[in-house]
Amino acid sequence: MIHAPSWRVLATSLFLVVGAGQATAKDVPASRGPGQAAIASANFLATNAGFEVLAKGGNAFDAAVAVSSTLAVVEQQSSGIGGGFMALLHKASDGRNVFIDARETAPKAVDMKVYVGKDGKPNRDVSTNGPLSAGIPGEPAGLAWMAEHYGKLPLSASLAPAIRIAKEGFQPDARFIGTIEDRKDVLARYPASAAIYLPDGRVPAQGWTLRQPDLATTLERLAVKGADGFYKGETATLLVSASRVAGGNWTAADLEAYRVKEREPLTVDYKGYRIVTAPPPSSGGVAIAEVLNILSGFDLTKLDLAHSTHLTIEAMRRAFRDHNEYLGDPDFVKMPLDMLLSKYYADGLRATISPDKATPSDLLPTAMSADPGMHTTHFSVIDADGNMVASTLTVNLEFGSGFVAKGTGVVLNDEMDDFALVPGQPNAFGLRGALANAPEPGKRMLSSMSPSFVFGADRTAVIGSPGGSTIITQVLEGILAFIDGKSASQITAQKRYHHQYLPDRVDVEAGAFDEATAKTLTDMGHVLKNRSPWGFMNVVTWDHRTNALDAATDPRRPSGLGKVGTVKSVP
Ligand code: GLY
Repeated sequence: MIHAPSWRVLATSLFLVVGAGQATAKDVPASRGPGQAAIASANFLATNAGFEVLAKGGNAFDAAVAVSSTLAVVEQQSSGIGGGFMALLHKASDGRNVFIDARETAPKAVDMKVYVGKDGKPNRDVSTNGPLSAGIPGEPAGLAWMAEHYGKLPLSASLAPAIRIAKEGFQPDARFIGTIEDRKDVLARYPASAAIYLPDGRVPAQGWTLRQPDLATTLERLAVKGADGFYKGETATLLVSASRVAGGNWTAADLEAYRVKEREPLTVDYKGYRIVTAPPPSSGGVAIAEVLNILSGFDLTKLDLAHSTHLTIEAMRRAFRDHNEYLGDPDFVKMPLDMLLSKYYADGLRATISPDKATPSDLLPTAMSADPGMHTTHFSVIDADGNMVASTLTVNLEFGSGFVAKGTGVVLNDEMDDFALVPGQPNAFGLRGALANAPEPGKRMLSSMSPSFVFGADRTAVIGSPGGSTIITQVLEGILAFIDGKSASQITAQKRYHHQYLPDRVDVEAGAFDEATAKTLTDMGHVLKNRSPWGFMNVVTWDHRTNALDAATDPRRPSGLGKVGTVKSVP
């Protein structure tokens, strides 16, 4: 049956939004479902777990709990219950969009001095390795919240696949083993980490079966008692004592105080599409909205690739400058979002762009530079009723802090490095920007995670990507490709580029530009630099004209992982 979301309903609500803004949650119409489901994640075991829960009568939100918790077992280098996530939910029954902020928080005893070396520069060893690099995890509370408020099944049913796989074991893929190799020196520092990831003191060979009874028990406590099963009682005691023995500063009160936040998503209208995306403490949605508002004043379709790319790079440059300058945790800092998201502000920024000359970043008002990382994971779900989830999850760098709290099987994140820990360091005039994202007890560190929906008259996309600061530009380019009519697999395969204000260069994936385009961009003053790797993007699309779903995962992943983005009929 052909079904489109009621564009007339959507059109009558457009007056609610001027350019980009914090739209009311009600202004995306409810719709009938596609009658089947699609899931795209970074691992086939996680995708299968989502379908297992859908087959038991769960909805997209239950599936999201199953996918997230299974990723926490089978792709724990990228995310886990020692980390956090940001998820965008679309409820088909009333058309409501909700943003779940399960981002980590700084512990009460956070002390910026420990992250500064004797030379006054950031001490990256402390901010990225070991328990002092870990924020208070948000993922367990976020999963419990999603099950309780949006799911149809009990939390225990949605966690069952993850618990089973943790107990029975699975064979880690080449990517998992490669990241153990990358982080082996740090994992070797902590006995509970080495016991899991370096059996016999070595990086395991492929074919190795990883069984995690401690992690299964920790997940079981969460399944039985909900968030209290993680943030109070035995798990909490083990987390705090292991962390403190290894030099960390968490207390039981930090864990007990952790709360999930529901926030209003950001909404931006662009070329007849409505993009719903992540608000602060993600910087991603603000930056994506700013870029789209700037680009809405150009007709990119009339330009050659070099000139349309040039304008997009210039819009990225300006959006990232603001990202660095203004953004932080909305519960702690006042941000000029009305200004950043307004059409008038975008008009002003657009007027500073030369049609054929790069603006050196140091000619723009100064701000701090963002620090890119390449980890994290994203999955996308649409269920048979049209409920949707875009969820990006992270422990920050590969295996987060590298520190497993003994007896829990939980790898703690190293998300403290996402705070501006040493204000003024990269740039003496960037102090104000750093302050918005300076650590404070209980504060959430700024994230780039940008789970997004794109609603059009004929098609809808659920999209997101890992990739540190490149998350934002990868998701932006995916959104633009979808609006250009590309399919899910064309979007994930599309070659990518990235500019983040500082360093003042364009990171380019091999094959993104032909020789002539690269030369034109260079002649305009852009510095092009080859970059690899790029984020593992997972996209689901829904064509309302044919009611067809399409799921695609990133073709950049190593081969042999099975089909991880799948569409299935679910009764
Ligand atoms: N840790 C990556 C991010 O949140 O952006």
